[in-house]
Amino acid sequence: MRKIFGGMEDIPIIHPDSKVRYYWDFIILIATLYLAIEIPLSLVFVLPGSPALSIINTLVGIIYVADIGMRFNIGIDEQGRIITDRRKIASRYLHGWFPVDLLAAMPLGVFLSGTKLSSLSKLAKMLRFNRLLKLVRADTTIRNVAGRHANPAIVRLGLLVFWVLMAAHIISCGWIAIEGNPLDLSQRDQYIRAFYWTVTTLTTIGYGDITPQTNSQIVFVVMIEILGAGMYGLIIGNIANLISNIDITKAQYREKVERVNTFLKYRNIPLDVQKKINNYYSYLWESMRGYDESAVISDLPAPLRTQVALCLNQDIIEKVPIFEGAGQELLKDIVVNLKPVVFTPGDYIVTAGEVGDEMYFISKGSVDVVSEDGRTVYAMLTDGQFFGEMALVLSTPRTASIIARDYCDLYSLNKETFDRILEKYPEFGKTIKELAEGRRAEQEAAQVKRQESEKEPKNEVEHTRPEKVRGTHVERTARGVVLTWLDAQHDGHYEIIKKVPRAQHWSVVDNNVTETRYTDLAAKTDQTCMYRIRAVNIAGPGPWSETCYADRRPLRRR
Ligand code: CMP
Repeated sequence: MRKIFGGMEDIPIIHPDSKVRYYWDFIILIATLYLAIEIPLSLVFVLPGSPALSIINTLVGIIYVADIGMRFNIGIDEQGRIITDRRKIASRYLHGWFPVDLLAAMPLGVFLSGTKLSSLSKLAKMLRFNRLLKLVRADTTIRNVAGRHANPAIVRLGLLVFWVLMAAHIISCGWIAIEGNPLDLSQRDQYIRAFYWTVTTLTTIGYGDITPQTNSQIVFVVMIEILGAGMYGLIIGNIANLISNIDITKAQYREKVERVNTFLKYRNIPLDVQKKINNYYSYLWESMRGYDESAVISDLPAPLRTQVALCLNQDIIEKVPIFEGAGQELLKDIVVNLKPVVFTPGDYIVTAGEVGDEMYFISKGSVDVVSEDGRTVYAMLTDGQFFGEMALVLSTPRTASIIARDYCDLYSLNKETFDRILEKYPEFGKTIKELAEGRRAEQEAAQVKRQESEKEPKNEVEHTRPEKVRGTHVERTARGVVLTWLDAQHDGHYEIIKKVPRAQHWSVVDNNVTETRYTDLAAKTDQTCMYRIRAVNIAGPGPWSETCYADRRPLRRR
């Protein structure tokens, strides 16, 4: 005994999540399925006695015995802790599935298999039913094999179908065994009819074309009917629940979008704004499948949160050059505090002159960095770059506006975390400060260059950017807010942006207005709206106008 155990010490323990375990489970599943079909059939029919069939049966018997040996060598996953101690594994197995596996592996049918007596040969076939005990484990095995890749709801649905078909097969064989079908039919016809009878009975349809004749058949039918009534309710209830769970996120998301759309229509929001909102939701669905990552993560305990955040934000860590060579601790501190945000084309992500509370990393998309007067585009930033750090590092108002060029997936980091990180990792703080100083120098250089170019005498044919829009006027009417302004005489068009109280960003209202008048139909009467207008021509945009206000309507007295 000691020798046997000593020999086993040399065999390595198989990891419960390893490929070897996966393929072994798969082999056991196929063997179990084969026997679950073959054994009931062999009891009621004379199966062709080909050598292939007996070879397969012997092979399955050997696999069942080997499975017992294998289970003593597979580690146990105990809530993430892998047990590899042989004695513990053996003890768990002996107190768990071992009796079932042992009974299923016993070749009981072999003892009477050679007999010529028909009653004894039937008994031999019935003795093989012990093999079906392995079916009890099939549920766990299917979950192990399929659960790795498939949607859990689909696995549950598959299991339900599997068990129903298994039950229908065994009951069909039972119906044939008690001679429920006419005996003069071929084996194939008998099975088809028996299966048809089982399904109509189990689903409580019962056409009544195949009916019990003898007492034993009547008793059998009554039992199956009782079973069928229970199973039918179980199946219908489960299927409805499973189907609605298969794509639960999509269903919830669709419901949310429908609710928003109903509201937009009810409040008569202009069609182009509605379209923009719908595009935004489609983008959210395509990029994040409607999940709010922060909400999912915030539910987890701290160590798990870090692990998941590191996986989720791996792409941004790899993209951002300043993270290259940064220590794991620093990365963890940053990544756990990143919050994903999405902006749509034309959105003002950051507005020059405002107080800055966060900085942003670009995961996908591109933005323009524009001076406060809108005359100079300092830079275009894209994937892996960041912005908004200057206000935080240099404690100044935002030095430029950042406008989204297309849909932008960003990660924001708030000031509090940012300050804490700079304090904790002074080297990283130094790098960021240097970058911020560099950007400030670039801004100053660009301003000087522009001022100099303005001083230079202008070539007659050269186009210049339009002047600041003046003479703006705002009026609230029954239709909406009417904006008017003086003609900029610039040979181009106008752009209008808007902001409401508590909104963080300016958003584009219209970027191709050709007249000196515009009616904002989407302006809410109970909100003060701020507008800025600028003229744009072939040379580029002019500076933004002074902000003009459409005050909210006072509430009417009844
Ligand atoms: P902040 O001033 O907080 O907000 C505007 C941001 O634009 C600023 O931080 C920088 O991150 C970014 N920025 C300013 N100037 C440049 C530049 N020349 N090149 C790239 N980014 C810039």
